[in-house]
Amino acid sequence: MRESSTEHDSKIILALDVTGPVHTRSDRAEAILDQLGDHVAGVKVNFHLLLPNGLEGVEGVAAVCARKGLPLIADIKLNDIESTNLETVELLFGGGFDAVIANPFAGYAEGLSGVLKKAKALGKGVILLVYMSHAGAVEGYAMRVGREPVYLRFAKKTRQWEADGAIVSAKSPEIIRAVRKVLRPWQLILSPGVGFQGGEAAKAVGAGTDFAIVGRTVIESTNPLKTLEKLNLSLAGR
Ligand code: XMP
Repeated sequence: MRESSTEHDSKIILALDVTGPVHTRSDRAEAILDQLGDHVAGVKVNFHLLLPNGLEGVEGVAAVCARKGLPLIADIKLNDIESTNLETVELLFGGGFDAVIANPFAGYAEGLSGVLKKAKALGKGVILLVYMSHAGAVEGYAMRVGREPVYLRFAKKTRQWEADGAIVSAKSPEIIRAVRKVLRPWQLILSPGVGFQGGEAAKAVGAGTDFAIVGRTVIESTNPLKTLEKLNLSLAGR
């Protein structure tokens, strides 16, 4: 991620959340990436693209990512038992994905331990959901376990399990700061919730975020390239 960020002069991970007619989504996603791919640090794919045509539907996007040296993240918020989790990541990693977003609520033993080990062995990444960007996140990720909020507990798990990074909402710079203090310097913070959801990329990066995840604000704008360049400029030198 860091190499790609330097090479493309960007701290933005593009959320390729293409909507509309399902049979054209893969082609449209590829076209967007062809246009914007030289100006982002990485790409994140969600169910918008994964469900209609499965891994085959992502082949083109994965090929562009490989060509442009862009890490490709599967945002499936993995949250199951170990056998299912392992099968899932084997398919994703075999299908061109470099990293997967997983939910620490699944726990380590018989939950995410196998995935974390497998990813390490393959040189792939696991990014844990530490604090989500929607309003309801407070009901789960901010619950208190004793005196400690769940997000802090999950930040500690991210450190202890040596995951590659954490997802923390861009709308909560104070939580980003708290999580940054817990993580090791090499562990990344990725922050969604920018623009459409109300967060500011520059504020998140100022608080310790490494990469801002941005979807609709860029791809649904009238001039995606211009919007992306503006965002990149707002983060230049930070
Ligand atoms: P927008 O269009 O709001 O898209 O910029 C954001 C993308 O990120 C996903 N998202 C999250 N993913 N943790 C995640 O792992 C979160 O807290 C979170 N909030 C948003 C969202 O589904 C979309 O793909």
